[in-house]
Amino acid sequence: MPNNAALYCRLTLSQQKQQVAPLDWMEQVLQQRQQDSLLRVAVPTKRLSPTLIEIDGKQLVNFGANDYLGLSWNSKGLPTIRPSATSGSGSAPLISGYSQYHSDLESAIARFEESEAAIVFSTGYAANVGTISAIAQEGDLLLSDSLNHASLIDGCRLSKAKSIVYPHNDIQAIDEILKQHRASFRRCYLATDTLFSMNGDLANLTEIARLAEDFEMTVIVDEAHATGIYGSHGRGWVEECGLEDSIAVRIGTLSKSIGCVGGFVHGSQVLVDYLRNFSRTYVYSTSMPELVAWNAAKNIQKLSKMNAERSQIRETSKGYRSRLISAGLRVPAGDGPIIPIFLESSVKTISTSHRVRDLGFYVPAIRPPTVPDDQCMLRVSLSIHHTEEQLDKLIVGLVDAVK
Ligand SMILES: Cc1ncc(COP(=O)(O)O)c(C=O)c1O
Repeated sequence: MPNNAALYCRLTLSQQKQQVAPLDWMEQVLQQRQQDSLLRVAVPTKRLSPTLIEIDGKQLVNFGANDYLGLSWNSKGLPTIRPSATSGSGSAPLISGYSQYHSDLESAIARFEESEAAIVFSTGYAANVGTISAIAQEGDLLLSDSLNHASLIDGCRLSKAKSIVYPHNDIQAIDEILKQHRASFRRCYLATDTLFSMNGDLANLTEIARLAEDFEMTVIVDEAHATGIYGSHGRGWVEECGLEDSIAVRIGTLSKSIGCVGGFVHGSQVLVDYLRNFSRTYVYSTSMPELVAWNAAKNIQKLSKMNAERSQIRETSKGYRSRLISAGLRVPAGDGPIIPIFLESSVKTISTSHRVRDLGFYVPAIRPPTVPDDQCMLRVSLSIHHTEEQLDKLIVGLVDAVK
């Protein structure tokens, strides 16, 4: 069992690459927790049987799992190499639901992202809600893009900070809000998707980072859709913009390009330790099954080597958007794999979606309240496995359906 008293010896934060000054306050809060004997650490726990666990090589009878009927366990037991035996982790991570597989996944994410540390949540939604609400507090100012994903919005709603929604990607509006309000608040945060999940465009991160520096603002990004697609190593839009040392709080999901389920946050060790102690969606929620953690770590390794596929999907998207535009559809230029086809009303959107479905294509209709009234769309999400023929036929079907 790691010794709590020793934990903060490793936090020589000012020397560490990813330390960003605005998060220094977390170290003090954690030190206070440690002094009060309240600091929490996640301890890898190996499940040996429905009632036995091993911690630090010591076998223990587990009275800390909620797997009341033993359904997360099968009689074959847990193989030593591959965690195929349990369908559930049995508990929250700080009780007995944090295994070596979870720990290995966090290390794999930190390595992939070249960050000091990472923490895994059971979903991307939980990562966003739990991170924003834990960090932005009463007396703080929290800015949020109007097209942010619901999980960021809900994080802002749960936070006790003063939350202001700015018009989508509007740098001038952010500047004005900061000029008007920044001085009245202790700390300031801005939360944004990087690749926006509905209209598929990208946050103007370079300008946001510039404002962050000018106004002492900490940027929190959700790279859910950008991980694996952008950046020369697939680390996302922050990597592609060259801002890895400027953005302190980076959130991702395991459910999109990584092909599993779960969410994560990476950054400095102090950020991760802080979230492990204060993020309620982490502390009070059962961790993902070991099999998922194991799979996600494997997929991250694969993802880091998929440069050709990254280029392919971006090239395909760029070309496909041009073809959709040439076919007379209202589609923005770009190279992200989420392609919106804007339609004039929710009625038109739903009827078009039904018509293309009759032709053999599932293209979801996105309507309010997910998007504003004037941004109803069909959302085409591309895969590298779509064939030329499928893509060609969809264009024909779409053109026919919108008539
Ligand atoms: C931008 C964005 N963030 C977070 C999430 C939530 O991720 P998860 O599905 O892993 O909970 C989604 C899900 O679609 C998303 O689009």
